[in-house]
Amino acid sequence: MMRIGWIQTEPVYGEVAENLAAVRAAVQRTAADLWVLPELFSTGYLFGDRAELERLAEPLDGGPTVRGLAEIAGSCGTVLVGGLPERGTDGRIYNAAVAVDRAGVRAHYRKIHLFDREKEWFDPGDLPFSVVPLAGARVGMMVCFDWRFPEATRALALLGAQVVVHPSNLVQPHCQAAMVTRALENRLFIATTNRIGTEERGGFRLSFTGASQIVGPDGRILSRGPDDRPAAEVVAIDPSEADDKRATPRNDLLADRRPEFYL
Ligand code: ACM
Repeated sequence: MMRIGWIQTEPVYGEVAENLAAVRAAVQRTAADLWVLPELFSTGYLFGDRAELERLAEPLDGGPTVRGLAEIAGSCGTVLVGGLPERGTDGRIYNAAVAVDRAGVRAHYRKIHLFDREKEWFDPGDLPFSVVPLAGARVGMMVCFDWRFPEATRALALLGAQVVVHPSNLVQPHCQAAMVTRALENRLFIATTNRIGTEERGGFRLSFTGASQIVGPDGRILSRGPDDRPAAEVVAIDPSEADDKRATPRNDLLADRRPEFYL
């Protein structure tokens, strides 16, 4: 069994140490093998412009977010997945997610489908979807708006993911409901962690919708958070349930695909 949890936070814009402290406090309260944090949990989301993002972006190697996560992972014996603005070695800035244990980065993803004004701030992800062994499961990462593209979850399923971790900063409805379908059509677990609160900057205002959740391969919602406050919850899952892709005795959701008929 694997204990997987979400930590739904209200990041304070630009306050990386404070945002890491909120994560540490939640991790210290409850034991889990794998925790999922929101997208951009350490910096906040609503950048004034690219120049402001440049000031908050950090390298994975030696940057404060990865260092802080590794320290929490080491002292609490867990693995953490969360999002940060990554300064690549090429000068590009990615809306990234990392999985971090005591030794540092175990998995890394750069958001492929940028949402709305993110296209003005970030460079688009340039790494293929991947699946890595983490905390006793085969885990794949995607970030927030990737949910609007069923290909993202399907790619992870085809790569053998048992658990999809999905750091998010949701501002539109429907994702939580859509992820029930994503879990069902791929028969795997999905942990979507959203943030709460409102950010206002440069004449723009965004409110984030909480309701973090974990869905099972049968589409059951195993855990669901509130929409208005920080919270955390852990559930015990058996990742091997996601290895059974049968929808009926005669239907295997991956083997029955007919890609020769798809665009
Ligand atoms: C989003 O992709 N943060 C909506």
